Amino acid sequence: MIIEPRTRGFICLTSHPSGCEQNIIDQIEYIKSEGTINGPKKVLVIGASTGFGLASRITSAFGSQAATIGVFFEKPPSEGRPATPGWYNSAYFEQEAHKAGLYAKSINGDAFSKEIKRQTLDLIKADLGQIDLIIYSLASPVRTHPETGVRYKSVLKPIGSSFKNKTVDFHSGVVSDISIEPAVGDDVDNTIAVMGGEDWKMWMDALQEEELLANGCKTVAYSYIGPSLTEPVYRKGTIGKAKDHLEATAFSIGDALKSVNGEAYVSVNKALVTQASSAIPVIPLYISLLYKVMKEKGIHEGCIEQIQRLFQDRLYSASTPTDDQGRIRIDDLEMRDDVQAEVAELWEKATTETLPNIGDLKGYEKDFFNLFGFLVPGVDYEKDVNEMVEIKGLQ
Ligand code: NAI
Ligand code: NA
Repeated sequence: MIIEPRTRGFICLTSHPSGCEQNIIDQIEYIKSEGTINGPKKVLVIGASTGFGLASRITSAFGSQAATIGVFFEKPPSEGRPATPGWYNSAYFEQEAHKAGLYAKSINGDAFSKEIKRQTLDLIKADLGQIDLIIYSLASPVRTHPETGVRYKSVLKPIGSSFKNKTVDFHSGVVSDISIEPAVGDDVDNTIAVMGGEDWKMWMDALQEEELLANGCKTVAYSYIGPSLTEPVYRKGTIGKAKDHLEATAFSIGDALKSVNGEAYVSVNKALVTQASSAIPVIPLYISLLYKVMKEKGIHEGCIEQIQRLFQDRLYSASTPTDDQGRIRIDDLEMRDDVQAEVAELWEKATTETLPNIGDLKGYEKDFFNLFGFLVPGVDYEKDVNEMVEIKGLQ
């Protein structure tokens, strides 16, 4: 079929297999060009199909020749209806990994559930024995608790008072004022239940109980801080409370891992266009200004550059530098004083009229469509493409 982008609000309803394939190949090429990382050998990535999790899987496999098991929640294709992009990403990741002689298998389902954890543990036991790196990279709006069956929904709200600021609709380029009402009732607890650290701990406990963790193993989850501009809606809002919880969980996991000489980290990553971040109000405007400033300074990075640096310079270097709260910081370039000062200045000036010049709206839009395999250089979108792509190592 011929597949074109169809958008609704912050999402794209279609995705292009050949564009996703090209994205995978480009990321693999980047990792290979950066040379070998003396990294992990057997890796579990939870949230492996898009964004930072996918970049972690690619970096493990093509930077360190690691065997990888990827867990994700994606929709398969049906006749005439493309799959979600993470499905195609995983299919083509596996294709390239298998070509390179690397073990790669995938599990598609709800990572929060007991069933998917059970299936993953059994697969590790049968095929890999023990694993030495666990990446936790889920971004989900909902979680059904495995013990109680309660379904929690996360919200993106400020805490205490309403937040008024600017935002941009990156499809139309219109900059407008928004006001977001503060969290009410169980909003904070619900968001912590979805995006906090409880599920990460459940995974690690289950792996440890069944002796599937190799001596010296590491686990990493991803967090975000960002500037004071976005603080009310991000770091000091409901999602920030969940990130506080996630970061605190790294310490309890770290304690439990001492018996296998393991380590647990949170890595604070850069703001990037992913399916998760495009849904957060205000963030797209911030990102479009940030991209402009970082590109001009020659320090812009995408997910793959970020994770390559995480592995090479932090996790698998002679020492793992952290901040005073024990967090790995690969948002160091985003948070540089000169970068933040320029973004803050541009923020004041940002209007519908000025944004095309002072911000990188084009870069934002391109990255957004790229997530779905569109606007990818080198892909012929006029060409008929088979939407019914299989993931060969799907369990
Ligand atoms: P993403 O939306 O690209 O990836 C989310 C992944 O989780 C996908 O593989 C998806 O299939 C999987 N997933 C979602 N629900 C699932 C479920 N119930 N069961 C199994 N898999 C499920 O998101 P992104 O941006 O890569 O986020 C990953 C982590 O990185 C999050 O913790 C996010 O907060 C963090 N982060 C993101 C930043 C950004 O700017 N995008 C910045 C810093 C941190
Ligand atoms: Na991810």
